[in-house]
Amino acid sequence: MARLRVGVLISGRGSNLQALIDAAAEPDYPAEIMLVISNVPDAPGLARAAAAGIRHETIDHRDFDSREAFEAEITKALEAETVNLVCHAGFMRIVTDGFLAHWSNRVINIHPSLLPAFKGLHVHQRVLDAGEKATGCTVHFVRSEMDTGPIVIQAQVPVRPDDDAEALAARVLEQEHLIYPRALRLIAEGRVTVEGERALIDGQ
Ligand code: GRF
Repeated sequence: MARLRVGVLISGRGSNLQALIDAAAEPDYPAEIMLVISNVPDAPGLARAAAAGIRHETIDHRDFDSREAFEAEITKALEAETVNLVCHAGFMRIVTDGFLAHWSNRVINIHPSLLPAFKGLHVHQRVLDAGEKATGCTVHFVRSEMDTGPIVIQAQVPVRPDDDAEALAARVLEQEHLIYPRALRLIAEGRVTVEGERALIDGQ
């Protein structure tokens, strides 16, 4: 079976990238990472791509006059590798409607909360401040409004009474590393369809 050709966009540490790299190293995994792009020079995730022998490059948004020009360069690099699906993995840029129209329902993201709750940044501290008893993480298709879009998979994680933001982030991250490869597998197997703002798995 031809494997789905994936490009991963990062800005930093790249632990979710690593989870995808590790999953794709399995012979029966239905997706292959063709290219890793960072908008931040020397992002640690680039070294992970290098160690795995995956093509990687920096496309620094500060080198472009507009979002559109920055995104055009990203699309050009992805299309040079005939990428079919784009995975944001800690990619800290908002993308435009134009980019998303080009990659219609072919961009996914992982976010460290149970969306639609706790969009945006500093999620874990906000979860603690709100006194939530549970939180989690979400893989979703990307829309131009930040941290919205059809949800593919979520995992729930308990909040413990003695948690600080760091401890909670670590517990959530463990689940991120499980659900991102799982969601990518489902998509690569053709089991996910998007109907409006809902993603269905095997039609359900
Ligand atoms: C993760 O928590 C992810 O959910 C969020 O940014 C963080 C990226 O971490 N979007 P890493 O770069 O994958 O280690």
